[in-house]
Amino acid sequence: MGLNNFFCSRTTQVFEERVSMKKFLITIDGPAGSGKTTVSKLLAKRLNYKYIDTGALYRGVAFETFSQGIDPELETDLETLCDRIDLKFEITESGLRLFSNGKDISDQIRTPEISMMASRVSAKPCVRGCLLGLQKKMGQEKCAVFEGRDMGTVVFPDADVKFFMMASIKERALRRFREMGPDSSQTLEEVEQDMMKRDANDSNRDIAPLKPAPDAIKIDTTHLDIETVVNKMAQLIEAK
Ligand code: DC
Repeated sequence: MGLNNFFCSRTTQVFEERVSMKKFLITIDGPAGSGKTTVSKLLAKRLNYKYIDTGALYRGVAFETFSQGIDPELETDLETLCDRIDLKFEITESGLRLFSNGKDISDQIRTPEISMMASRVSAKPCVRGCLLGLQKKMGQEKCAVFEGRDMGTVVFPDADVKFFMMASIKERALRRFREMGPDSSQTLEEVEQDMMKRDANDSNRDIAPLKPAPDAIKIDTTHLDIETVVNKMAQLIEAK
């Protein structure tokens, strides 16, 4: 994995121009559908911080695994893929985009197959090792909101403010189903089943399982609207 220039120059320039009163690194962990993506984006915008979707990096590895026809259980093949893969984020007019080996793959990494493959490959030591260095490097300058599963526990144990978001499985599945829109290839029940499988994979794996850091602020979003959650988080950050 090439660690240099992981942000394209335009992105770096935009980030460098950002001014921030408090140079915090904020982590937001939680299961799929807990609201962390929406909240992380809004919070980063409000604070003028950069936003890093680490799930997209695992999806990028999953996409390459899938499209190159690699069996994720064959460690050596997965290791070779990790050595060669070059993932970069770039901010464009259509938002944050993910590039793999120079190709914009953002529109191909959100399918149910890639979601499940991301959960599978994310349990593999070579994949986690490969993305750990990249994420740490992305966080060096702070002023960032990182969302994922192990941000507060493994990648940034010294983060300035840590949040852990959760919600009931029914509510999370419903949110994801609505997000998928009328052309969804899955029923609500299938979305819920997939989510439960991914929750189990992500929480029970040996390395960096999904769990709150001991010092994380836990927020149950089942009955909360986005604005309330973001306001609450911003207040907590301000008070730091
Ligand atoms: O947040 P997401 O649904 O896009 O993440 C896709 C998968 O990637 C998820 O099932 C688990 C994995 N992941 C991880 O293991 N660690 C992270 N920091 C982020 C995501």
